[in-house]
Amino acid sequence: MRKRLTLWTVCLTMCLGSAMAEVNIIPKPTSVVEKEGEFWLKKGFTIGYNDASLEPAANYLKEILTQTTGFSFKTKAGKGKIQLSLTGTDENDESYEFVSDKKSIRIYAHSYRGIINGIATLRQLLPASPRGGLEGVSIPSVTIKDSPNFHWRGLMLDPVRHFFSVEETKKLLDEMALYKLNKFHWHLSDNEGFRMEVKAYPGLTSDTVAWRHFNYHDRQCLERASKENNPAMLIPWKFFKEVEGYGELYGGYYSQEEIRDVVQYAAVRGIDIIPEIDMPGHNGAACYCYKWLSCTQNGVEPLCLGRESTIQFAEKVYDEVFQLFPYEYVSIGGDEVNRRRWSECEECKKRIEKEGLKDVSELQAWFTKKMEKYFNAHGRRILGWDEILEGGLSKTATVHWWRGDHPDVTQKSTSMGNEVVLCPFTFLYFDYAQDDNTLRHIYDGDIVPVDLTPEQLKLIKGMQGNIWCERIPTEARLEWMVFPRALALAEKAWTPRNEQNWDDFLPRLKAHLQRLDAMGIQYRPLQTKRP
Ligand code: ACM
Ligand code: ZN
Repeated sequence: MRKRLTLWTVCLTMCLGSAMAEVNIIPKPTSVVEKEGEFWLKKGFTIGYNDASLEPAANYLKEILTQTTGFSFKTKAGKGKIQLSLTGTDENDESYEFVSDKKSIRIYAHSYRGIINGIATLRQLLPASPRGGLEGVSIPSVTIKDSPNFHWRGLMLDPVRHFFSVEETKKLLDEMALYKLNKFHWHLSDNEGFRMEVKAYPGLTSDTVAWRHFNYHDRQCLERASKENNPAMLIPWKFFKEVEGYGELYGGYYSQEEIRDVVQYAAVRGIDIIPEIDMPGHNGAACYCYKWLSCTQNGVEPLCLGRESTIQFAEKVYDEVFQLFPYEYVSIGGDEVNRRRWSECEECKKRIEKEGLKDVSELQAWFTKKMEKYFNAHGRRILGWDEILEGGLSKTATVHWWRGDHPDVTQKSTSMGNEVVLCPFTFLYFDYAQDDNTLRHIYDGDIVPVDLTPEQLKLIKGMQGNIWCERIPTEARLEWMVFPRALALAEKAWTPRNEQNWDDFLPRLKAHLQRLDAMGIQYRPLQTKRP
């Protein structure tokens, strides 16, 4: 009977085809040595871990393996056929070693994040499609040693212009983890809405602040949906709410409980969340709700920096941000402020005079520095869009270079000793339209400016793609805009520049498109025009 069962299993495997992935990793690892043979995943195998801190990683891996194979797996402290081992304690060391052979799979690293990077590699060594119930899932024998070039490899999502649910956000986090993207910058407030529950100011997420009537961009999306016969441009019904006296409004927000859940989900996957509450501009929703925040007291942004009540508001909001997000960086935003309003405001003029400031640019810099001290007192570091450079900046602030038409930003910031995260719109605005050349433009581009000295280069923390959502109303549209660009970004940020080679990347990318298909990601095909 036993023999017959085994024969049956072999037949089943041969008939349905065994499933072993090629060694095809994005981003390209530091070194890959392939060997003979493979490791067959079997029902009931144990995922062992040598340190209690790895338990969430083991459970995460168990979920992945079960999804792919349909088998159940166990996790336990100690030894397993699949072994996760911390071999040091350096939080900042994201490198890992992955070893698979006929007998076992082992991932070694000096940090939780390193182990997670090894798991991302293992995910990519699994077959692209889930093989529920099939006896034939194996991993090629291989030794991979790997380490990232940059520690900041991110995506920024704007759920203000169009809202994304917790589940949709988690899906993006999961996709990020597959490609070793480890920073999720969450733009949680803007003119069109406030998306984070703030207990001290419940009005910010009330029905008429977190929800809104259709605006110009909503109407444009609907027009395109109709003109292009494209349901991905429709505004999802699930985000509408009937509000008494207003009718159907569009929007949403994240409760603090939901935010904690997302933070936890990201942490298991080795992803830090960088929250952004944009101040003093891009704050129309808050000013509309609490009219005393604006210079004219009528709800028009930016925040009035002449009034103590504004400073108190900012501190109380960030207090809750600090409680919810246990990470080093918090973004103050700081972009595109209509500073002219301050020059017409008596309170702001008084502040400028009292603090001995030269002009309204220095007034914003005064506010940023004041907030930076507050952030630092709470153990956090401040980050802001590159306009925070104007009017002077403290050395310890980090700059997001986004204005690709201001090529001197990185040169200027790093020569002053400030760290920079690169996201110039010329390469990394994933909401910008794409054509058949966009991917190559990103991959071959010098995103790191070539005129930096070795000392300045040390201040480049990494890069991120930004996804502003004025024209991205659905998850389907989001995936179309982000993929496969995110894979090019992942390799730009992880693999050293001299190892980046388009002709090597393209075939690997093509194979990964099958993986994206299997995950149900609605990416933009490489070619949409007839050759
Ligand atoms: C930005 O795109 N306003 C940062
Ligand atoms: Zn004012």
